[in-house]
Amino acid sequence: MIVKLCNSSDLPKDGALRAFRGGAYDICVARCDGKTYAFANECPHQAAPLSAGELDGCIVTCPYHGWRFSVATGEPEKEGDPALIRYEIGELENEVFIQLPG
Ligand code: FES
Repeated sequence: MIVKLCNSSDLPKDGALRAFRGGAYDICVARCDGKTYAFANECPHQAAPLSAGELDGCIVTCPYHGWRFSVATGEPEKEGDPALIRYEIGELENEVFIQLPG
């Protein structure tokens, strides 16, 4: 299902992260290189809120144990670790929409 997440003016600035609630899902939105990415705001290691982590370029570092993931691809830095759960996100007429399961 596609739901409205926020207005475009609510998106984080480039190089930043922000938490949102989308339907029943906790979402982390990241902006880097002028693009917007969305993924589950739950680290695949032990469920830390990734929105409380650090964004360096397009790499987010988890605040709990430092695992690192590409927000662009969801892939972990360390081969074999689980990837982020990513969601499609887009803007239309100053509103931001996200595609969620269900
Ligand atoms: S909970 Fe994210 S690295 Fe452990």
